Amino acid sequence: MTDQIEIPETFPVPGAVTGKRVVITGASRGLGALLAHAFSRVGASVALVARTEKDLKAVAEALPGPSLVLSGDVTDEDFNEAVADATVTEWGGVDVWISNAGISPIVAGPRETAASIWRKVLEVNLTGAFLGARAAARVMGTGGRLIFTGSVLGERPRQGLTAYSTSKAGLAAMAKGLALDLAPAGITVNVVAPGWFDSPLAHAWRNSPELSAAVTGHTALGRWGAPEDLAGAYQFLASDASAFVTGAVLAVDGGYLLA
Ligand SMILES: NC(=O)c1ccc[n+]([C@@H]2O[C@H](COP(=O)([O-])OP(=O)(O)OC[C@H]3O[C@@H](n4cnc5c(N)ncnc54)[C@H](OP(=O)(O)O)[C@@H]3O)[C@@H](O)[C@H]2O)c1
Repeated sequence: MTDQIEIPETFPVPGAVTGKRVVITGASRGLGALLAHAFSRVGASVALVARTEKDLKAVAEALPGPSLVLSGDVTDEDFNEAVADATVTEWGGVDVWISNAGISPIVAGPRETAASIWRKVLEVNLTGAFLGARAAARVMGTGGRLIFTGSVLGERPRQGLTAYSTSKAGLAAMAKGLALDLAPAGITVNVVAPGWFDSPLAHAWRNSPELSAAVTGHTALGRWGAPEDLAGAYQFLASDASAFVTGAVLAVDGGYLLA
């Protein structure tokens, strides 16, 4: 009898996603397109989801590996089910579903935020992710991975972004609830919460010297996120190395949440 831990023959390689079948929503530009390249480059098959088909096709054409283009609206329940069905038809199933589509259409206080805008933000950012998770869980086997793109603003709201921050805080709660609900099926559910990355959504901040400096000043590492900073967190959560990680929120923010 030894009191040493039993050392396994092999350890899963963190971030190894070769051969994984990965759905990425919001893949027509910005961070979703970035993730599509990162996953494709290391041998994953990717299904690109967003509303604008021509942009999805342009992303698909630039990828080194196999891809599917599935255009539609993540707020549409039937569309999410159709994406899940397409993964079964084309690939025989899906391993990873990244709900990344999101909007932030307004910076305004409560009186200036129309009820319709509030509803739209929650519908795309929160309900869209729920409908995707629901569709994915129907066709995913044990070992499946759901990953939501949250935001540091879900934990630390900023003035004028209450609807957005609420939607992202909701995603963190939803991931924890679904992690419990889907644990018996062997599916993990986690959130990646990016800090500030330049993308079409964030251009207004990046292009404003004051706002950009506020981001930099508030980020412990003193800079905006670079494109190569982000995908590793998703790849870790998608890989076999994260089998025991569920209900977690992984900030990739250069220490934005520390200050
Ligand atoms: N950039 C940052 O610094 C940052 C930081 C934290 C979190 N995030 C989050 O990261 C995610 C991606 O943001 P991004 O910066 O890459 O924004 P982006 O450049 O504006 O891209 C948003 C993506 O979502 C898609 N989309 C929007 N509404 C949709 C809908 N109803 N149905 C299907 N697809 C839809 C868009 O494509 P179509 O318009 O063609 O549908 C696009 O592909 C979002 O969830 C955002 O909240 C970003």
